[in-house]
Amino acid sequence: MREKDNIILIGFMGTGKTAVGKRLAQALGKKFIDTDKEIERVTGMTISQIFQKHGECRFRSEEKLALKKACSLNNAVIATGGGAVMDEENAEIMQKSGRIICLTARPEVIQKRVKRRDDRPLLHRDKSIKRIEELLKEREPYYKRYAEAFFDTSDNEHSEVVKNIIDYLEGKKHEDDQG
Ligand code: S3P
Repeated sequence: MREKDNIILIGFMGTGKTAVGKRLAQALGKKFIDTDKEIERVTGMTISQIFQKHGECRFRSEEKLALKKACSLNNAVIATGGGAVMDEENAEIMQKSGRIICLTARPEVIQKRVKRRDDRPLLHRDKSIKRIEELLKEREPYYKRYAEAFFDTSDNEHSEVVKNIIDYLEGKKHEDDQG
């Protein structure tokens, strides 16, 4: 089923997909693509502006385009937005494009990280643990369905997470692997 050699990072907001993805790409000598950054580049708007001016629907269609483009490349690490995998077509595109790895973090850690910047429209008004848990509950079944392995970034340095992912990809066992 897999047609390309990419590594696709999925997972909730604030789990470190961009930060870990960049370092993972560097360590593996692969290109790094962040679909949110691509959307901002192509549209000339920030993610928040797209939500505000045009609504979530428009964002999701830009997201699909960015994902299709990124997944058609080869030899890349692709960081996706936290909601991308909820769309079935997106999930199929990812599955064909490479190995899907999910990053996770505890709700309190996610809250601490998302509080630093106000660039996530879905947590714009409410960054409470309750809101984060609500969204997590909605998304987790999708992450579980599509990811082959999970890495918790709550207590680990990015470099440690990268090392664990590479060990996993190379077939070595490590304690966080639930796949
Ligand atoms: C979203 C996550 C965000 C971004 C957008 C919607 C989501 O990306 O795509 O705000 O639906 O979970 P990050 O997961 O990189 O924060």
